Amino acid sequence: MTVTEPKSLAALNRLIAASEPLVPGSKRAVLGEGPMHPAMAFVGEQPGDQEDIEGRPFVGPAGQILNRAFAAAGISRKKTYLTNAVKHFKFEERGKRRIHRKPTVGEVKHYRWWLLKELEFVQPTLIIALGATAALALANRPISVMKQRGPITFEAGPGYVTVHPSYLLRVPDRAAKNEAFAAFVEDLRSASSLAASLAASQSTKVKRHQRLTLRD
Ligand code: URA
Repeated sequence: MTVTEPKSLAALNRLIAASEPLVPGSKRAVLGEGPMHPAMAFVGEQPGDQEDIEGRPFVGPAGQILNRAFAAAGISRKKTYLTNAVKHFKFEERGKRRIHRKPTVGEVKHYRWWLLKELEFVQPTLIIALGATAALALANRPISVMKQRGPITFEAGPGYVTVHPSYLLRVPDRAAKNEAFAAFVEDLRSASSLAASLAASQSTKVKRHQRLTLRD
C-alpha cells in the first residue's frame, strides 16, 4: 500500500486516526490538541487509560498534575499544544484495570515520523519533552532526563527537557513530592520565558528582513 504524504495537520490526523495500534488493545489513536504556531508544544509519552476513553491527551491523573503546574507557572493550557510520542495506549489487563506499559524503543521509533510531521505542521516556538520517552522520540537517542533537564536542540527545533508529570505521582513522601512539583513548575517557567525570548528574536529577524527588503 502506498501512503501519500499528508499536506496538512488534518490530513496527518486522518492518517493517524485510521491506523491500527502497533500493540493491539487501545480504543483509538489520541491526537494532539491545541492551537497552531503556539509558543510551546508539550510532548508526553503515550495516552493513558482515561485519554484512551476520552480521546484527548492529558485528561487523566497526569493531566491533572500538569494542569496544576501550568496554573502555578502562569501558563494557559488553551494556548499550548499537547501531544504524545506514541499515539495509542499500551496496557496490560489486571482484573478490570488497564495498567500502563511503557513503549519499547522500537515502538517509539515507529511513531516518530508522525510526531515530527505533526510538529512540522504545528510550528511551535519551543518543544517541551515531558520525560524520557518523549525525549527519546525527539532526540532520536536516549536522554537522561535528570542530567539533561533544561534547554536542548531537537531536530524539530529548539527544545526543553523536563520530567513527566506522572513521575510526580510516584515520588513517595510528601516533602519530596512538594519539592519535585516546585522543580517542575520552575522548569515550566524557564521554558515559558525561553519560548518568549525565542519568539521575540524571531520577530526582530523578520522585521529586519522586511526593512532590508523594502530598501532594495
Ligand atoms: N501520559 C502521557 O504521557 N500522555 C497523556 O496524554 C497522558 C498521560
